[in-house]
Amino acid sequence: MSETMATETAREAPPFPQDRTCPYQPPAGYDEFRGKGEVHRATLYDGTEAWVVSAYAAARELLADAGRLSADRQDDGYPIVSERMEGIKYQPPSFVGMDPPEHNRHRRMMLAEFSVKSVAALRPRIQALVDEYIDEMLQHGGPLDLVPAFSLPVPSRVICEILGVPYADHTFFQEASQNLVQADSPEQALQSVGELSVYFDDMISKYLQEPGPGMIGRLAGDKVAGGELYKHELIMNALMLLIAGHETTASMITLSVITLLQHPDQLALLRKDEALIGPAVEELLRYLSIADIAGARVAARDFEAGGHLIREGEGVIVANSLANRDPSVFPDPDRFDIGRGNRHHVAFGYGVHQCLGQNLARAELEIALPALFNRIPGLRLAVDVDDLKLRDGGTVQGVNELLITWGDR
Ligand code: HEM
Repeated sequence: MSETMATETAREAPPFPQDRTCPYQPPAGYDEFRGKGEVHRATLYDGTEAWVVSAYAAARELLADAGRLSADRQDDGYPIVSERMEGIKYQPPSFVGMDPPEHNRHRRMMLAEFSVKSVAALRPRIQALVDEYIDEMLQHGGPLDLVPAFSLPVPSRVICEILGVPYADHTFFQEASQNLVQADSPEQALQSVGELSVYFDDMISKYLQEPGPGMIGRLAGDKVAGGELYKHELIMNALMLLIAGHETTASMITLSVITLLQHPDQLALLRKDEALIGPAVEELLRYLSIADIAGARVAARDFEAGGHLIREGEGVIVANSLANRDPSVFPDPDRFDIGRGNRHHVAFGYGVHQCLGQNLARAELEIALPALFNRIPGLRLAVDVDDLKLRDGGTVQGVNELLITWGDR
């Protein structure tokens, strides 16, 4: 291939996903997708191609239509965005990888714990946990790593209590969860799935013998014992929820701290008016779009989108970091503006798979962020943002460590 042709191909199908170089900005290479149409060809890590949807309206329209886009992870055309996910494709999927009506059957069983009402009732408990970890941080003094001191344990304890998973096992499942989403190889990811499956298998067996706590206890005693749900289905759903409950909110807390500290004018506004926390969290969700690769689908039939013919069996990825920066919906989209008044971003996806944990994630962020900045007024980064080691583009966006400090240390 001549050099000109190679450049031409690269331009037509830029790589997706790409690694960020700033924790809160999309990769510069995504400019190839921005403002140049709604739907684009992209090259995945293994050289195969898929469609990337970058426009907000098209993203919502397509995610809302399970008849055009299937979430079936076992379909041959399902786009695999990183090598680590190759082996998992052949594992039985959790409900996130299913289509209606099967998907609805599972999701319905889990709605109760994540409803607005249930999460509202949890707020005092979340506040108590947040305060407990901030007390420990203050006692320890800076500098310290915010991730193990606060960002990870708060959502981890909350999801454990909801699911009925003993937090005493946290070293095991936090490691397995991180090894899964950031695995170096498909084998490592599969090993983590295997370890977590055995862990949940044992737990559900126990909860079938005697009533168990939390959502897993409820579903084991009610749905599995009652023959409405197979044990292996509950294992995969529990595993998915444990990982989703850990990796996402923890990343959001850490990246939100970085973003607010890097935008002192916005942090000052928030400090002046606590009522701004709701809008600030929505803007952080839009701006950070940490689950950028979550909207992977496969075309269930031929259809037209953005002037292109998408053929049945082709991979389609609705990139929420691009849709959330569509200038026709979010003017001056690269500006972080907590007064923007946006609650219609697609950081939690859209349609039947829209995030089950969104009420919980919002509550955790709305409680954790003001508490951190109010109780540790001099909170600042103890590391240069340019030196942070960012996760690769093929996983939930974030950093694994963040050194912070306060006072005169
Ligand atoms: C689905 C993002 C927190 C559980 C999703 C999807 C996105 C997302 C984009 C859609 C996936 C798709 O379309 O295929 C986020 C973000 C979070 C967050 C940005 C944090 C700020 C949580 C939490 C939980 C959770 C705390 C709790 C347990 C789930 C589940 C699904 C999901 C179970 C699948 C829903 C379904 O397929 O019906 N999330 N999530 N997420 N999320 Fe979250």
